[in-house]
Amino acid sequence: MNKQGKINKIAGPLVVAENIPGARMYDVVRVGEERLIGEILEIRGNNASIQVYEETGGLKPGEPVQSTNQALSVELAPGLLGTIYDGIQRPLDLIKAMEGDFISRGIEVPAIVREKEWDFRPKVKEDDEVEEGDILGTVQETEIIEHRVLVPMGIKGKVREIRAGKAKVEDIIAIIETDEGKEKKICMLQKWPVRKMRPYKKQLAPEEPLITGQRVIDTFFPIAKGGTACIPGPFGSGKTVVQHQLSKWANAEIIVFVGCGERGNEMTDVLRKFPQLKDPKTGKPLMQRTILIANTSNMPVAAREASIYTGITLAEYYRDMGYDVALMADSTSRWAEALREMSGRLEEMPGEEGYPAYLPSRLAEFYERAGKIICLGKDGRRGSLSTIGAVSPPGGDLSEPVTQATLRVVRVFWALVAELAYQRHFPAIHWLRSYSLYLEDLEKYFTQKVAADWIKLRARAMALLQQEDELRETVRLVGLDALSSQDRIAMETARSLREDFLQQFAFHDIDTYTSIKKQYLMLKTVLSYYDVSLEALKKEISLDSLISLSVREDIAKMKYVPEEDIEKEREKINRKLKKEADELINRTENRE
Ligand SMILES: Nc1ncnc2c1ncn2[C@@H]1O[C@H](COP(=O)(O)OP(=O)(O)OP(=O)(O)O)[C@@H](O)[C@H]1O
Ligand SMILES: [Mg+2]
Repeated sequence: MNKQGKINKIAGPLVVAENIPGARMYDVVRVGEERLIGEILEIRGNNASIQVYEETGGLKPGEPVQSTNQALSVELAPGLLGTIYDGIQRPLDLIKAMEGDFISRGIEVPAIVREKEWDFRPKVKEDDEVEEGDILGTVQETEIIEHRVLVPMGIKGKVREIRAGKAKVEDIIAIIETDEGKEKKICMLQKWPVRKMRPYKKQLAPEEPLITGQRVIDTFFPIAKGGTACIPGPFGSGKTVVQHQLSKWANAEIIVFVGCGERGNEMTDVLRKFPQLKDPKTGKPLMQRTILIANTSNMPVAAREASIYTGITLAEYYRDMGYDVALMADSTSRWAEALREMSGRLEEMPGEEGYPAYLPSRLAEFYERAGKIICLGKDGRRGSLSTIGAVSPPGGDLSEPVTQATLRVVRVFWALVAELAYQRHFPAIHWLRSYSLYLEDLEKYFTQKVAADWIKLRARAMALLQQEDELRETVRLVGLDALSSQDRIAMETARSLREDFLQQFAFHDIDTYTSIKKQYLMLKTVLSYYDVSLEALKKEISLDSLISLSVREDIAKMKYVPEEDIEKEREKINRKLKKEADELINRTENRE
């Protein structure tokens, strides 16, 4: 019997080959003399359709195709953090060093460096009983992250040997005797098929916010740790900036950033910028807790399809160690386009706008891999994986299939709006069009950990913003004079909420991040201006004098006050607000 099949048709990234021995769905095959990497997508009779992750130019019918009899998998071991990979986990910088700027085809570079020695510190002893997910030992992967080496899936038994000290990822660090009496040799390097969710013990309800330091997000549309969110927005509205801000500031311990099909120059920007960024919490390079997956629009389309699975599997791996992980995908629309292209070439029946009918289920499968969980293993440790996807609807039209399918599965919607970006209201997340379905889940956290009146404050602020929207309509129809003084003050307060609270400049040293405590104090201060003004109006104070109170300047500048001074500043502003209001009242009363 032949050991290999042969190509009979090539259409862009799709190759049809016949008689591949042992061909199975989703197995990885090597295609052509150059042994390009591909994956079987469809089998009909003797023919297999293969999506090839590399450029197929120059391939000819008749060339050989061989199955590896393995599903598309990632390598898991210390050494992942700080690495930049392409969509099928080939390290980009290494390849670059070896091959010049372009990834040459069929190249075999291991995802994890084999030669590096790590200092393995056991967490179990000989004769300990262990099961899948138990921590065998740890390695200091970067200065800030400890890598936890887990008992691989499906293994349970007694530790026969455990070796401390220097080890390479393929060296044996433990021998486990299974209940059936078999000896399993364990090394740090493990593999996992990317299209299969990694198992865990139990899913937990969301109860803790992923704090991002972005005021419009944390206060108004929070995402839970283990939650899902999408950021749809037209061209240039700030999707990438929001995802960068989250990568930098969110209280996740590990970040996986999948740059999926964006323009080459934008991604190079990320590749150049990220390695220079400092982790604000530790002062170490941010890359020490980050994995980047880059698949630009000029790279082969099939690898783009794979990139989000590669990303989420790596993210799950760190979640399983007990970390809070956040995954950013920028942009899932480009991923969906890759799916559409492959589906078209497979001549599948097209669904809406040419996307395959399985687009919604693929998106759902992707987002459903997020969650807060109890990890496998006996220690009951918890991990979370929060997933945040950018969506780029053509022309900003949210009724298109990718946005719609995404909205059906994610629980937070941060609507980026072109008008706001034009007005340079950043982040351009619209306060009336966005939503978070985690509010109720997180209420307890905010009430207990931040302030008892948090929910009430947020609701009042939201109501004012809604009221402003209605009042604006009135003003448009009948003019400003038609409004009562109370309405005018409501509008002024809403303006202050928008400009002083919601607007947040990503590139300002202090404004870029606001702690939850500071967010609370800022919101409270804006609303106390409202309360004081309403009281003053009852005492016949003129509207204009309230609008032009000089304390409003101080309120507007609160966002630039350093965290450590914010409480003092809040008290100062409070006193000034009272004093200015009292002066107005005294003056009015003296006049009478
Ligand atoms: N929070 C912010 N603070 C300050 N400027 C911002 C902020 N968000 C976005 N911007 C500005 O908007 C520009 C465009 O943002 P960004 O590149 O994130 O948009 P995008 O939606 O990812 O665009 P594309 O559709 O091209 O990918 C940024 O270069 C920046 O100048
Ligand atoms: Mg972008």
